[in-house]
Amino acid sequence: MRQKRKKLGVNVDHVATIRQARGTTYPDPAFAAVLCERAGADSIVAHLREDRRHINDEDVFRIKSAISIRFNLEMSIARDIVDVAVRLKPHQATLVPERRRELTTEGGLDVIGLGRRLQRVVRRLQSAGIEVSLFIEPDLDQMKASRDIGVGIVEIHTGHYSDAKTKRERQSHLRRIIRSAEFAHDKLGLRVNAGHGLHYDNVRPIAEIPQIYELNIGHSIVSYAVLFGMRKAVKDMLALL
Ligand code: PXP
Repeated sequence: MRQKRKKLGVNVDHVATIRQARGTTYPDPAFAAVLCERAGADSIVAHLREDRRHINDEDVFRIKSAISIRFNLEMSIARDIVDVAVRLKPHQATLVPERRRELTTEGGLDVIGLGRRLQRVVRRLQSAGIEVSLFIEPDLDQMKASRDIGVGIVEIHTGHYSDAKTKRERQSHLRRIIRSAEFAHDKLGLRVNAGHGLHYDNVRPIAEIPQIYELNIGHSIVSYAVLFGMRKAVKDMLALL
């Protein structure tokens, strides 16, 4: 049966980014995660980066115990991060490439190039009872390699689609995403998620792809919350003056 709507995973990293800007204890990403759950989110996503620039180790444990929906930990394959994941046991781990100087995850994992090194990490996480997803480009060979490595889920990187400067360019990225989602789901039997750079104006064409199960969205939702929560924030402060 066709899914009524896509599942939504909300990434709360940038709630922690605001906290880190001032070194305070607020806003708390675990509290934000609970609010997302109450609003109907299907899962919570957080990226424990190697440089801990936003989400930290304590956050991921607090988020997991605060929510009753699925927790999807985004992570690199660095050993100390894998150690944290094995202790935390999130429902799902999404493996992403990570470069220290990048502003955000800039591309998909090179599953073919990483080969056995990646496979060892996948097996270790799966043995701890964690479902593993690989964040990859909409590329058929990377899809095949993901299936061969033994994961059941892939997440298609929608960043190039989101960053496209012209309609024509965006359409061409969309066609690649559609083709790879069909291939991964219909031919390889993988669960297909998608995310990166999706916002209120560009999400619909991706949400209309039948083979996609879940969308993971962070920056645009946190940005929207900041703007549309501003009125209440000012009124509540005024009431104290
Ligand atoms: N999916 C993955 C694998 C990501 O790395 C990110 C960014 O952390 C997202 C989804 C969410 O991207 P955005 O914050 O642009 O919505």
